[in-house]
Amino acid sequence: MSDLEKINSSFKEKISTVKSKDELQNLKTEFFGKNGKITSQFKNLGSLDLDKRKEFASNINKIKDDLSNQLEQKNLEIDTNEINSKLKNEKVDVTLPIRPYRQGKIHPVSQVIDEISSIFSEIGFSVAEGPDVENEYNNFTALNTPEDHPARDMHDTFYLEKNKKLLLRTHTSPVQIRTMLKDKPPFKIIVPGRTYRCDSDQTHAPMFHQLEGLHIDKNITMGHLKGCLDYFIKEFFEVKNVKMRFRPSHFPFTEPSAEVDIGYRIENDKIVIGEGDKWLEVLGCGMVHPNVLKNVKIDTKKFQGFAFGIGIDRLAMLKYGINDLRAFFETDYRWLSHFGFDPLDVPTNYRGLSKW
Ligand code: PHE
Repeated sequence: MSDLEKINSSFKEKISTVKSKDELQNLKTEFFGKNGKITSQFKNLGSLDLDKRKEFASNINKIKDDLSNQLEQKNLEIDTNEINSKLKNEKVDVTLPIRPYRQGKIHPVSQVIDEISSIFSEIGFSVAEGPDVENEYNNFTALNTPEDHPARDMHDTFYLEKNKKLLLRTHTSPVQIRTMLKDKPPFKIIVPGRTYRCDSDQTHAPMFHQLEGLHIDKNITMGHLKGCLDYFIKEFFEVKNVKMRFRPSHFPFTEPSAEVDIGYRIENDKIVIGEGDKWLEVLGCGMVHPNVLKNVKIDTKKFQGFAFGIGIDRLAMLKYGINDLRAFFETDYRWLSHFGFDPLDVPTNYRGLSKW
């Protein structure tokens, strides 16, 4: 038997026992590697006479092609076997009923933020965001609250530095400033986010959530503000009529300013939003103060608008009957599994926000 024939038959014998990719790789190296059996045959070519060389070369090439094909075939065979055995072992019976997922709930605050964003997106608001760590300029000064202004004390600020330049934002209003500095009017945004004040009891937590609204355009009036809030409250509480009361108030960054109360009554120990003789404060609002617009270089002769700030946690408590704010942030899984929402229960306007 010639050398080539020997190589050929030993290859056949070996490949028939190959079962895995590793073994296949070893076989490949044995024949086609740098010092492999086929490779070294090519090295002999130089020592042969011209006519013998041609014949020998064509023979090795044939064998080489043949063995390469076999290697490829084997590779395919191993792949197919692997897939088949996986398919056999990983059977899924799609007719089985879905397993209820008990783990993982959406926090009521997240759910309410989704609901609110959905409601405002229907009337053309987009969502803007800003950082929790703010500078005092955006949080106070640019919002027409100079250093000696008493409103700074009202906010019980967490300062991060002795010089009081950096702080945890006390409201979402600084995002008004960030947005207006970045772009040109008109603006129509809502800003959900975390806010911080040094305060803690049944209805106050040091970290809480606000939703800022800002609409700046030509000819915007208090009437637009009223219409917008009326629409929002009705959609949010999913009721046809809501009694609303605008009480004159004061914020340095709006003029005139108002606080908004909504009517409610207690029925069978439950709070019913909309009608009734009791009032509940839900938000602060007003027409953006001209000084604020000047601070962000907006021409107050051309543009004006309104802003509002809503306490998100409070809305969540009202809508879902939760009476202690602190429970929101205690990460008690029992609480969350009771008040939380299923991950697929995504609020949308067309489907209805909370009922389906
Ligand atoms: N930033 C105010 C607060 O936290 C709420 C507010 C926002 C009032 C926008 C008016 C306009 O109390």
